[in-house]
Amino acid sequence: MTEQDEIPPFLYVVVCAAGIAADVGKLITAAQEREWQVGVIATPTAMNGFFDTAAVEAATGYPIRSAWRRPGEPRPFPDPDAVVVAPATFNTINKWAVGISDTLAVGTLCEVAGRGVPIGVLPCVSDDLAGHPAYQDSLIRLRAMGVRFGHSYQGAEGEEFGWERALDLVEPGGC
Ligand SMILES: Cc1cc2nc3c(=O)[nH]c(=O)nc-3n(C[C@H](O)[C@H](O)[C@H](O)COP(=O)(O)O)c2cc1C
Repeated sequence: MTEQDEIPPFLYVVVCAAGIAADVGKLITAAQEREWQVGVIATPTAMNGFFDTAAVEAATGYPIRSAWRRPGEPRPFPDPDAVVVAPATFNTINKWAVGISDTLAVGTLCEVAGRGVPIGVLPCVSDDLAGHPAYQDSLIRLRAMGVRFGHSYQGAEGEEFGWERALDLVEPGGC
């Protein structure tokens, strides 16, 4: 095994401002159990009380990224081997599809999609919002870019978010 083979693959977990984000620690634990090193990028709204940021930083060993670095500052994370967006909001999905890069999260997604890095998305979008024509167009456009989507969570009684599905989507054989 070469020295390079021993570096664990790096996973970006993009967290948006949906209520289920409170459980994102489950995804981080599952990813680490599958030998991923994890860095979290959260939208500015998600940073505003949607999940336990201190617990996530303790679990990953990295500061959460939410704002762009200043010119001249080093990149805090290595380049990603894969990216998961979980939970993915209506807002972030639509902005990503049309290229409105006004958060680090969306800017990063726009950039990595062009690089051929596998990207898995677990949307958390209600049926009412999912019926909006802009959202349907976004899914078509992002799928055409190679982005892989899991089940869209509605938050129904007894429904599981299925965090591990995000990892299945980006691992070899995932689709
Ligand atoms: C408690 C709470 C829960 C929310 N849950 C969702 C959700 O499940 N899905 C969604 O698309 N938006 C949800 N929203 C609305 C988003 O937070 C809002 O659209 C925000 O602009 C999304 O920003 P982001 O995409 O940059 O994270 C929720 C808002 C609040 C206050």
